[in-house]
Amino acid sequence: MIRIAMLGAGRIGQVHAANIAQHKEATLAAVVDPLIENAQALTTAYGGIALADPLEAISHPDIDAVVIGTPTHTHVELMLAAAKAGKAVLCEKPVDLDIAKAYAAENALGERARRVMLGFNRRFDPSFSEIHRRIAEGDIGDFHQLIITSRDPGLAPMNYLKHSGGIFRDMMIHDLDLARWILGEEPVEISACGSRMFEPALEAMGDYDTVMVQMRTASGKQCQINCSRQAVYGYDQRMEVFGSGGMILNDNLRETTTRRFSAQETEVRGPLLNFFMQRYTEAYRLEIDAFITAIKHDKPMPVTVKDGCQALKLADAAQLAADTHAVVSLA
Ligand SMILES: NC(=O)c1ccc[n+]([C@@H]2O[C@H](COP(=O)([O-])OP(=O)(O)OC[C@H]3O[C@@H](n4cnc5c(N)ncnc54)[C@H](O)[C@@H]3O)[C@@H](O)[C@H]2O)c1
Repeated sequence: MIRIAMLGAGRIGQVHAANIAQHKEATLAAVVDPLIENAQALTTAYGGIALADPLEAISHPDIDAVVIGTPTHTHVELMLAAAKAGKAVLCEKPVDLDIAKAYAAENALGERARRVMLGFNRRFDPSFSEIHRRIAEGDIGDFHQLIITSRDPGLAPMNYLKHSGGIFRDMMIHDLDLARWILGEEPVEISACGSRMFEPALEAMGDYDTVMVQMRTASGKQCQINCSRQAVYGYDQRMEVFGSGGMILNDNLRETTTRRFSAQETEVRGPLLNFFMQRYTEAYRLEIDAFITAIKHDKPMPVTVKDGCQALKLADAAQLAADTHAVVSLA
């Protein structure tokens, strides 16, 4: 059994703790949170010891691995300490909001980076991973275009947004990572536009609520990503890939597959699964499984700190492109 400590018992910590506890080859050895009652709530539900200090878990000889689900500004310090202590690490996105700090972390890890995984969970979503596999199997022929639509159901609280790093680094970073993975190539050029369609208060933070990004790779593949912080119909997560041999796309998920028909309407369906915890339930489970499998078989991690740095580099470039209305070269 791989003994794992969950650092941070907030929103994402609760998801990961449940998946670790349910995994047949792992145990939840500890949950750490300075708000000790948060840690205790999870250890009561899933087992393990509750601790307040992450360094206590990191230096504990009976712990093999840590999952970092703490606030973003703590990621680099905890990741480096855990890797240095010989633990395998799954660190939530983003590595950091400061690209220089993220690159410095990658350098400092050196060889140890092999045992550090980044939490880009969407790569493990069954629909997106099927699209990835089908492209590799040649189902769309020559790859021409990728379109990603990623809309949140509503704006996060202002207190959160102030420290989030902005829509590109906080939200679109998931889609930028997906884009790199699906394209199979690094973008060399990016343009972006940002608007405040419904929340003017974001201007004071230099942030936007509605953005579009366009990217091109060296071989000419094109990618467009659309993000909104307010989709009144629910959490909208779709991808379309297009090429010489056809197209593949996915649908949003709903609680049931029922469709209602009446004298006034047809094809009426229930709402979309509301937010990331519901929509990506299976992706989070498979992400933890991939982490445990890599540790068990001493394989390289499927998503790396380098991936985290590359996605952050794209997010920074998108912010610059939106702010300056310029095409940013990434070559
Ligand atoms: N991959 C995803 O889909 C996804 C989703 C949500 C959040 N995240 C990321 O996860 C991280 C946490 O986000 P959240 O929404 O769960 O935040 P949150 O505020 O709900 O929870 C963070 C928890 O960490 C605790 N904490 C603070 N400092 C700590 C420390 N040094 N050691 C241990 N615990 C500490 C806090 O007390 C809090 O309980 C962020 O970096 C965020 O970007 C990723």
